Amino acid sequence: MFDTLKKSVAISAINYIPKNSIIGIGSGSTVNFFIKELSFISHSIQGAVPSSSVSEALLKKFNIPIVDLNTLTSLDIYIDSADQINYSMEMIKGGGGALTREKIIASVSKTFLCIVDQSKYVKKFDNFPVPVEVIPISLNSVSREVVKLGGIPEYRKNFITDNGNYIIDMHNLCINNSVFLEKHINNIPGVVSVGLFCIRKADLLLVSYVNKVDKISL
Ligand code: A5P
Repeated sequence: MFDTLKKSVAISAINYIPKNSIIGIGSGSTVNFFIKELSFISHSIQGAVPSSSVSEALLKKFNIPIVDLNTLTSLDIYIDSADQINYSMEMIKGGGGALTREKIIASVSKTFLCIVDQSKYVKKFDNFPVPVEVIPISLNSVSREVVKLGGIPEYRKNFITDNGNYIIDMHNLCINNSVFLEKHINNIPGVVSVGLFCIRKADLLLVSYVNKVDKISL
């Protein structure tokens, strides 16, 4: 069922792509559906900035031009999914490990369009482990800091990010002051980025249900 819902929200997102634009593209299984839909209208955009090697390969497969973010000052829109998104439009991302590039592209985009199926839209974050990308030498030191925060760190085995780093999944974190927590974790030496997207959150959300797709904005 979830594949059907991912596909339906991906189809809806096509309506939000400005003509002749360069768009930011996230990562993950929902975005993979979106890239496929994008291929049908690829003539109407100039290109895309991908947030992962997987998304880049898929865009290339569909002959959608890849644009280097360093050649741009901003993007009109960034389209990505999330592992969870709450009623304040804050997200947990990075289940697929692409959080750092996702965060960079989101930060220079005028609109963040988040596309999810109904299972990911939650009133409050609901125990989804928060990923953090770390420089390899800092694996243990960052893990100790996670424990001090009340979290349980789990090293993601056999996984190297596109940036050559490791991922620690932080279980059991109490996310009451999400913006403070995001800044605090970002400041731990060795952390590249944390999968809390609460400072730069989504502007627009599409949520797919069996019979409809809801549009939500704050
Ligand atoms: C990738 O690092 C993630 O941020 C994904 O955007 C997120 O995990 C959602 O992925 P799925 O669409 O595969 O659930």
